[in-house]
Amino acid sequence: MAEKSNDALEKIVSLCKRRGFVFSSSEIYGGFAGVYDYGHYGYLLKENIKKAWMDSMIFDREDVVALDSAIFMHPQTWVASGHVAGFNDPQVDCRNCKARFRADHLLESFGVSADKATIEFINGELDKLRAEKKLKCANCGSADLTSAKVFSLMVKSNLGSVTDELTEENVVYLRPETCGGIYLEYKNTLDSLHPKLPFGIAQIGKAFRNEIAARQFIFRTREFEQMEMQYFHKPGTTKELYDGWKDTRWAWFLKYGIPLEKIRWYQHEKLAHYASEAYDIEFDFASLGGFKEVEGIHARGDWDLSQHAKYSGQTLDYFDEETKEHFVPHILETSVGLARLFLMFIDNAYTEDEKDGEVRTFLKLHPKLAPIKLAVFPLLKNKPDLVAKAREVYLALKKDFGVVEFDDNGNIGKRYRRQDEIGTPWCVTIDFDTLDNETVTVRDRDTGEQQRLAIADLTEYFKAKI
Ligand code: GAP
Repeated sequence: MAEKSNDALEKIVSLCKRRGFVFSSSEIYGGFAGVYDYGHYGYLLKENIKKAWMDSMIFDREDVVALDSAIFMHPQTWVASGHVAGFNDPQVDCRNCKARFRADHLLESFGVSADKATIEFINGELDKLRAEKKLKCANCGSADLTSAKVFSLMVKSNLGSVTDELTEENVVYLRPETCGGIYLEYKNTLDSLHPKLPFGIAQIGKAFRNEIAARQFIFRTREFEQMEMQYFHKPGTTKELYDGWKDTRWAWFLKYGIPLEKIRWYQHEKLAHYASEAYDIEFDFASLGGFKEVEGIHARGDWDLSQHAKYSGQTLDYFDEETKEHFVPHILETSVGLARLFLMFIDNAYTEDEKDGEVRTFLKLHPKLAPIKLAVFPLLKNKPDLVAKAREVYLALKKDFGVVEFDDNGNIGKRYRRQDEIGTPWCVTIDFDTLDNETVTVRDRDTGEQQRLAIADLTEYFKAKI
């Protein structure tokens, strides 16, 4: 029988903490909801996911350039983009236990679709449920729930002196998405790098949202990283380019080990007025009980550049030297959350098997994503010859593969268990035979099989595998 999703989530949360991947923020002060810290292995996994994305989006191509724009931006940015007026979620409070809910999610649990619905529609549906005595707090069961009200997801800050009040003049927002910086740097990119259409600008960075219900571990948090690419192109060429980007992004998931049957497309029925196409890639999370959005691929027309041109008073068009035309480029966006990918890769990799009555847990991560590529052990810690030889092999492999671990703690079984839970694809053990014949044991994480290889062949062997 399939494992219940909250059991699966609990196991993942526990492994992430136990093995130094993810910690709740500010734990010694009792925690800080919706914010997480990444430990050593979490940091390494995140960096590997970022690299895999950067390689595919920028370095393996010739038409996308990089950007690292600031989190603070001119406040007009978010007026122009529509975020200040409309980046809201409908919120319902429980008067009894003070729990907060997204009203649209609440309605969805009763089978009522309220995606992008008006607050009047939402309150009408809530009233119907209330009249039928069906509306209850999911936390305490009380029927004493407020009506839905509009709640802004924008996180405010101020950049004046710390004693200044937060006023309309000094309020700045922590960016709610990274693409805002890309739109504002379109002109500088054009003027400095002179790319020809179609071209993309990609960046990875932090975004902040005052999520009403930050939950499901790192799936929905208040501080998170996005990896976004905006592809500027000539009006009328969107369809073919859009299909190309859908294929590229789909292939990326498969390349890093996500099985075909665990991802699917979700086509948005309600499109923003400026959008012509909007699809999400959804992953079937065992830990979250089913398919959930991981990435959005949207055709946004000329909305973003036109809005910023209007509000800034600057010209943000493109001059086509062949046709001698000026026009505002259209934009295709790919947007994915790093923590969602992180959770997806761990959820997909989390495996338990049983050997000799003992449960073994391991992360079947793609070797390119695995935080540690190789671990090297001396069979015994108290034999100086073995330790010296193991360190020699370790240093040589470290030179070739970078992130390699040396471990002589506890018995060999314990060391294997630890590396399995970190997702290290291969462990190399130096034993007494090594001292005689320069061979080592290489153990495979997924099969547990061991083979004897010459030290001289290790680099070639692992290079071929990674
Ligand atoms: N620029 C478009 C944009 O930001 P979005 O659907 O709001 O679109 C894109 O976000 C992606 O960012 C999502 O598919 C998800 O992977 C990630 N994301 C959004 N909100 C998030 C949150 N609160 N926590 C973690 N990831 C989030």
